[in-house]
Amino acid sequence: MKHNIAVIAGDGIGPEVLAEGVKVLNAVAEVDGSFSFDFTHFPWGCEYYLKHGKMMADDGMEKLKKFDAIFLGAVGYPGVPDHISLWDLLLVIRKKFDQYINIRPVKLLKGAPTPLKDVTCEDIDMVFIRENSEGEYAGSGSWLYPGQDNEVVIQNGVFSRKGCERVIRYAFELAKKEGKTLTSISKGNALNYSMVFWDQIFKEVSADYPEVKTYSYLVDAASMFMVKDPKRFEVVVTSNLFGDILTDLGAAISGGMGLAAGANINPERTFPSMFEPIHGSAPDIAGKQIANPLATVWSVAQMLEFFGYQEWSDRIISIIEEIMVDAKVLTPDMYGTAKTSEVGDEVVRKIKEKYSK
Ligand code: NAD
Ligand code: IPM
Ligand code: MN
Repeated sequence: MKHNIAVIAGDGIGPEVLAEGVKVLNAVAEVDGSFSFDFTHFPWGCEYYLKHGKMMADDGMEKLKKFDAIFLGAVGYPGVPDHISLWDLLLVIRKKFDQYINIRPVKLLKGAPTPLKDVTCEDIDMVFIRENSEGEYAGSGSWLYPGQDNEVVIQNGVFSRKGCERVIRYAFELAKKEGKTLTSISKGNALNYSMVFWDQIFKEVSADYPEVKTYSYLVDAASMFMVKDPKRFEVVVTSNLFGDILTDLGAAISGGMGLAAGANINPERTFPSMFEPIHGSAPDIAGKQIANPLATVWSVAQMLEFFGYQEWSDRIISIIEEIMVDAKVLTPDMYGTAKTSEVGDEVVRKIKEKYSK
């Protein structure tokens, strides 16, 4: 079985970490022998924009549509306004391919550094289901009278019944399947239309899942509890913007930006899904081979799971754990001295050592 993967390495550390992800996928395929990956690299991103005046080719979406999955590094770099680079590449893919589920594990793996005191791996074990297609990221609004005294900017949040219901239902299904609790995070006290509606739909859908124990938190309190008492959270469902912010907080408590991964899923599989580390292009460390590729490797585990190779997915996660417990081949963000490529090589070495037939 061959899986065709579109690779958009993007900007900054994107190409550095993605090269390691590709290495790992190839190693898994080689050792397994029953499937393979075919990678097609697209040179899209900020450099492409500076040359061509656009973030991707005009027929970019048509091209991507044919792939089984997209593997993305990071997008955005000083010199191109972020709202252009992100809207015309990353966000357009999430939206046009209806990748309305963003799965972001916030799980303290063995050996991962955490700034929290007295927590165990069991205490931080959540998965965020972030709405990924609308909400605060709908791109609806206007900019009136620019530069004039009466200048006014409007940014609308768009919360459709369909959009809220499908992500909330997805989260309930996951919580039910895994026997976990489900926490909804919103802000109905201040956002008196969108979040009141969200809360109402959460309540409506919960009636179909009497077996799932639910909690509902305001986003400000939820941020506090994620730090003070993270074990309250198991499956979490939230809006696009809250999910973005809370998963960087989640990364901070569970190993850092260099370890946090995310899957942008189109559950119907009408369009390709997209796998990526959740961090950005990190211009502050780009080009130095010091970026941590483990977030990308974790997104490889998510991709393997998506393709039905659950066992390989679990193996990759346990290799990430082993590497952190060994603490011999780690990048500086994890207090090591290894290069990006050395960490990727170590993952490959362990795959071959443990699983070659
Ligand atoms: P960032 O995630 O790029 O960096 C935040 C901090 O985390 C930096 O100090 C960086 O060095 C560190 N960091 C990130 N990834 C790391 C890794 N793998 N290993 C070690 N350290 C790592 O966020 P930012 O600085 O706010 O954004 C930089 C650019 O990336 C902006 O243009 C932004 O819009 C874009 N961005 C893109 C994505 C994406 O493509 N998915 C996500 C977030 C930000
Ligand atoms: C992420 C990123 C993106 C988001 C940006 C770059 C548009 O921060 O994937 O977390 O906000 O979704
Ligand atoms: Mn983010």
